[in-house]
Amino acid sequence: MSFYVTTPIYYVNAEPHLGHAYSTIGADVIARHMRQRGEDVFFVTGTDEHGEPVVVAAEAQNTTPQEMVDRNAPRFEALTETIDVSNDFFIRTTSPAHMAEVQNVWQQIHDNGYVYKGQYEGWYCPKCADFKSEHEIGEDNSCPIHHIPLDRESEESWFFKLSAFQEPLQKLFADNPEWVLPRHRYNEALSFIDGGLRDVALSRSKISWGVELPWDPSHVMYVWFDALLNYWTAPKIARPGEDLSGKFWPASVHVMAKDIIKFHAVYWPAMLMALGAPLPERMFVHGYLLMDGEKMSKSLGNVLDPVHVVELFGSDALRFYCFREVSFGNDGSISTAGFETRYNTELANEYGNLASRSLAMIKKYRDGIVPAKPVVTGLESDFAGTRESTQARFDKLELSGVLDDIWLLVRRLNRFVEEQAPWKLAKDESRAGELDATLYGLAEGLRTVSILLHPYIPKSTAKLMAAIGCAEQVDDFSLAEFGLGDGGQSIGELEPLFPKLESVEN
Ligand code: MSP
Repeated sequence: MSFYVTTPIYYVNAEPHLGHAYSTIGADVIARHMRQRGEDVFFVTGTDEHGEPVVVAAEAQNTTPQEMVDRNAPRFEALTETIDVSNDFFIRTTSPAHMAEVQNVWQQIHDNGYVYKGQYEGWYCPKCADFKSEHEIGEDNSCPIHHIPLDRESEESWFFKLSAFQEPLQKLFADNPEWVLPRHRYNEALSFIDGGLRDVALSRSKISWGVELPWDPSHVMYVWFDALLNYWTAPKIARPGEDLSGKFWPASVHVMAKDIIKFHAVYWPAMLMALGAPLPERMFVHGYLLMDGEKMSKSLGNVLDPVHVVELFGSDALRFYCFREVSFGNDGSISTAGFETRYNTELANEYGNLASRSLAMIKKYRDGIVPAKPVVTGLESDFAGTRESTQARFDKLELSGVLDDIWLLVRRLNRFVEEQAPWKLAKDESRAGELDATLYGLAEGLRTVSILLHPYIPKSTAKLMAAIGCAEQVDDFSLAEFGLGDGGQSIGELEPLFPKLESVEN
């Protein structure tokens, strides 16, 4: 089966920050998990490079829009590497191949009768690149998102007949109660539709930085009408000479934050309906990462700058923290204090140290060979049904819920060590069988949780799996079942997976 997952494409006129990293890591966790399930995955992220803000920023920097986007886009591409993201393609909307496909699509929508010429007058936010409808206008004609005054704009425009899709969209939502997740975002999008859809301006004649309308080159498209199409063009242009869209359209899931839900859950399906193309299967809308500036810790510097965090603690720590601290789908605060606590207690102690201790005991008491599978370890009931329940939660994209469940198992393994006290069992020859079962249970528990954790912390889990002699299993979700391992394999060396913070700082 094929599975196509996307992130929003990011505006290049700002620096990449943790918020961008968050969406991209979320999509990456989904992509990695689906690959573990044997799906043929296509995962796309990229940059959104047209629009007025780029023109304004370029002017301010005394450069051309093209030079500016060429300078900034690589920073976003570099961030994907920094945070260990496994995208199959990085799309840039200024690429000629994307622009040509965008023109094909709009020509088709035009030919299907869904555009017309008119005069636009309305309140426009240059930062959102969006004309605001009446109920979206804040106090004193300000933008409720950016808190800046809206501009009164009037210009000749081509319009997209969004209003024609009111009923089809209502039906789409009624027929697909999980089309937008989580549910409160579905309700938000639906109430926007129920409030009445008006036609939207599709083009601008006052700026020239954008994709020209093929039937009227004196107009360029509003950036959103070119940007949303990245999801459609990416599979067509990712491999020159090969069109992957037969395999990867419709998209399986678009990941984004709540700020751009209207475009994705309303405009985008309407555009595809106007084109006569199949709709994406699902949208997942996450919340905002909020930062409590006051809690910034001097010793860590600006630790929540993703690049800085990764330099200090590695990409896995950042990836883990985002999804553990803030429930995927809701807003949540992040802080350096929270980061330190999670890093030290959960990653360094509960996972990293559990692994080091377990391996050290297998080495010391059993010459580095994992004991053969015993009749019973005492952990079976804790792990029963884990693979199925994890899969079910992943299917609902509950990325934080999955992590919560896995962490209960990690904690169970820590308690197991204390309860069994292998160091005591080792002193009593008559309890050798119990010691074997305990050490097998630890290795097997670590193997299982590491496969489950792999999409979140790919580097550390790969190291751990190699150290317990199961390197090749890390990519196979079907093996994430306690008791599938026979034991008998040799273990290897494992460097500390998450060195304690103090030692990093010194
Ligand atoms: N270019 C448009 C998207 C076009 S998609 C066809 C855009 N770009 S953006 O650079 O402003 O990125 C917005 C996205 O970045 C959000 O939807 C979200 O996915 C992510 N985030 C930016 N800041 C964020 C937080 N503080 N918290 C969570 N996500 C954040 O809009």
